[in-house]
Amino acid sequence: MRRVATLYRSTVGKKILMALSGLLLFLFIIGHMLGNLKVFEGPDAFNAYAEGIRTFGYPFLPEYGFLWLARLVLLGAVGLHILAAVQLWQRSRGARARKYRKETNLSFSYASRTMRWGGVLIFLFVVYHILHMTTGQAHPDFVYGDVYANFIIGFQSPLVVGFYLVAQVALCLHLYHGIWSMTQSVGATHPKYDRMRRPVAGVFATGIFIGFIIPPMAVLLGLLS
Ligand code: HEM
Repeated sequence: MRRVATLYRSTVGKKILMALSGLLLFLFIIGHMLGNLKVFEGPDAFNAYAEGIRTFGYPFLPEYGFLWLARLVLLGAVGLHILAAVQLWQRSRGARARKYRKETNLSFSYASRTMRWGGVLIFLFVVYHILHMTTGQAHPDFVYGDVYANFIIGFQSPLVVGFYLVAQVALCLHLYHGIWSMTQSVGATHPKYDRMRRPVAGVFATGIFIGFIIPPMAVLLGLLS
């Protein structure tokens, strides 16, 4: 336990925590994006899929036991990801104030600024998104349990789809830099694979962006109703 605490206090430990919590959130994002594409299978299949996630494991687990467990794990991962990010940022700011008079690596500072403000935007998006699609307070006509109808009605407004689009651009940039630096934090920097890190990050980030925006765009264009 003391070794874990010592590791966490180090910069490398915080970077590993950031990478592992990010990896968990990344896996959720891939699953969520693929799940959203099920909307093209129609109302019954999509609603059954959403209900299946809510009641996963029942009756061996309590009816919504898996859902709440998953929510707690995700919330924990978000909390640790933000905590590690803030602590790393404070540490690098402190170190830089002592060592440099001005920024020497502009592309690095641009990426970390994008990560910081992109992260804040993604966080605000998720808060709005839960009020929009899960609890319904930000939805014009929310019906609990009818996820398909909530989806179709929720994306009738170009303003709403526009905001989702902006948030997905932020997510895409965040994932691009995040995947790239995660591979470094977990030590995947062998010369043989190093060249692959940026293209691989680019393919994942772009694939997730496209997968997420297709369903809301299809609703807005009248291809799904
Ligand atoms: C265009 C992009 C997205 C669409 C169309 C979308 C769609 C949905 C829908 C329909 C639900 C409700 C599911 C249900 O009640 O069964 C939902 C829930 C949720 N989404 Fe998304 N989502 C998108 C992007 C994202 C992103 C980028 C994140 C995270 C970074 C995210 C995180 C969540 C979370 C945390 C929930 C709540 C799950 C729960 O606790 O029940 N979504 N999303």
